[in-house]
Amino acid sequence: ALPPEAHCTSDRERFPLRLSEFRVPATTAAASAAPRPVASLSVPNRDGREGLRRAREGPRYRPRQVRPPRGRGSSVEVYFYGGQVTSWKNNFGEQQLFVSRKASFKPPKAIRGGIQICFPQLGNHGVLEQHGFARNRLWSVDESPPFLDTTFDCHIDLILKQSEEDLKIWPHSYELRLQVALSPTGDLILISRIKNNNADCKPFQFSFAYHTSFSVSDISEVRVDGLDTLDYLDNLRSKMRCNEQGDAVVFESEVDSLYLSAPRKIVTIDHEKKRTLVLRKKELPDVVVWNPWDKKAKVMPDFGAEEYNCMLCVGAACIEKPITLRPGEEWQGRQEISSVPSSYSSGQLDPEIIRQMQRI
Ligand code: BG6
Repeated sequence: ALPPEAHCTSDRERFPLRLSEFRVPATTAAASAAPRPVASLSVPNRDGREGLRRAREGPRYRPRQVRPPRGRGSSVEVYFYGGQVTSWKNNFGEQQLFVSRKASFKPPKAIRGGIQICFPQLGNHGVLEQHGFARNRLWSVDESPPFLDTTFDCHIDLILKQSEEDLKIWPHSYELRLQVALSPTGDLILISRIKNNNADCKPFQFSFAYHTSFSVSDISEVRVDGLDTLDYLDNLRSKMRCNEQGDAVVFESEVDSLYLSAPRKIVTIDHEKKRTLVLRKKELPDVVVWNPWDKKAKVMPDFGAEEYNCMLCVGAACIEKPITLRPGEEWQGRQEISSVPSSYSSGQLDPEIIRQMQRI
């Protein structure tokens, strides 16, 4: 159980809630030993609109009423620790992300599951610790997020900067910003911006990934579309470059692959749950696909032995060609995920059309 710890203190009677309106408990302040969710945001009903109107008009509106009755409606939960999203529920209140029951929410381990931010390195493609350090650092609230061309009002902004300690292992001055947003239709949008603030004219290079663990019904009932014919690096064979021959990626044993130059849309279909997760990405050409399967699961201290059955990691990344930033330059990458019923199959129907059909 991950109880949200953020409380809204705003006396302004409006929706959406912004992070600035949350009182962040002292225990979640930077450098705290016990990380907790920094915020929990929700969109009130199936398409968000009715709730928005009611919230704006209702003079006695209180933030807690934003939560949809009987747990319906989309929501997201984010931790300062790792800048990590640990929960995303769709408009039916169904959890879309996996977090292990054995996850640790304390340094030095990253939270097992949710959406880990891997920066400035993914895996062991570099000299730093596995997946870089951003996923096990305490982020803070970004008090002055620059304006983004996003239309989503329901969002929070976090930031990570270099620390004295980190300068010893990665000698660069940077700002890593993360905006987590919920669209009115319940889609989860993550926008990351990385800026080189080096004062000494030095460029830096980095890799990045949204290491996204989906909650699935039964891994053997799941397939991933959009990766066919692509080249991938197989981490189980010393990063050997292979070519995907199947129409879709299915799971019968351990998978640890990095698909290169993938299309902007990757679709994960969960046949048993009759649910499809549509991932759209920008400036993140590659895709990580990972499931440890039974043997590795058993030896992972923060992963239940049977949990490989109900978890699949599919995330947008940029690894093969790392990004180089000169001082003053900024990079932006984006991952959006929609959860739609499985009548949608790859490329046939747009998720928005499905939603419209559901409303009729
Ligand atoms: C994947 C890597 O992306 O993440 C795997 O390719 C690794 O090799 C997995 O086992 C989990 O990594 P970690 O560090 O969170 O245990």
